[in-house]
Amino acid sequence: MRPITIALTKGRLARQTLELMARAGIDPSGADDPRTRKLIFENKELGLRFFLAKGPDVPTYVYYGAADIGIVGRDTIIEENKKLYEVLDLGYGKCRMCVCGPESARKYLNSGEMIRVATKYPNIAKDYFMNKKHQSVEIIKLNGSIELAPIVGLAEVIVDIVETGSTLKENGLEVLEEVLPLSARVVVNQVSMKMENERISDIIYRMKEALSCRS
Ligand code: PRP
Repeated sequence: MRPITIALTKGRLARQTLELMARAGIDPSGADDPRTRKLIFENKELGLRFFLAKGPDVPTYVYYGAADIGIVGRDTIIEENKKLYEVLDLGYGKCRMCVCGPESARKYLNSGEMIRVATKYPNIAKDYFMNKKHQSVEIIKLNGSIELAPIVGLAEVIVDIVETGSTLKENGLEVLEEVLPLSARVVVNQVSMKMENERISDIIYRMKEALSCRS
């Protein structure tokens, strides 16, 4: 029997995802060892394989069928815009996608003026300004520490994730507008969903049960 492969997101979501998996009885044992450089883990008994990947790569693995299931933030699912089934909101990893900047930049948001927007999420930012606000903007793609951009004059505002708000606060920035609420989601490859429906449904059921036990 071929294993069902599950792609997990490295970083902030990993710890809660591994805890949920353990409670669901689908534990990728060994994956939570911070010293390991191993990339893929197998649970032969359950016929499962797990690997940890960078967030934006998870929808790619699932779309091409290299993973049957992915666990990834809603921000990444929307940004990557791949044809996948989104089947479950895991309710953790809660945060918001926001337009942020210094209070003095608020005036640019309703002026219709051309402004520069720095972000790790160019598609989400473009869609928000173009289709929701009908404002022309120049999108500047960055790969991290986005809060720097308005401070050093690269952009007037940023579109970024706000979780606790401390990065903004420590850098003298504020939430100016909210774009999207976010949390961790389960996505499934569309072909796998048909071919392996029973096994995938069982995994999703176990995750749902584990979620309801916790609350
Ligand atoms: C994210 C995000 C913000 C920060 C928000 O960055 O881009 O910078 O977290 O969290 P907070 O509201 O709790 O302060 P991350 O730490 O993932 O690193 P990055 O800057 O390299 O993208």
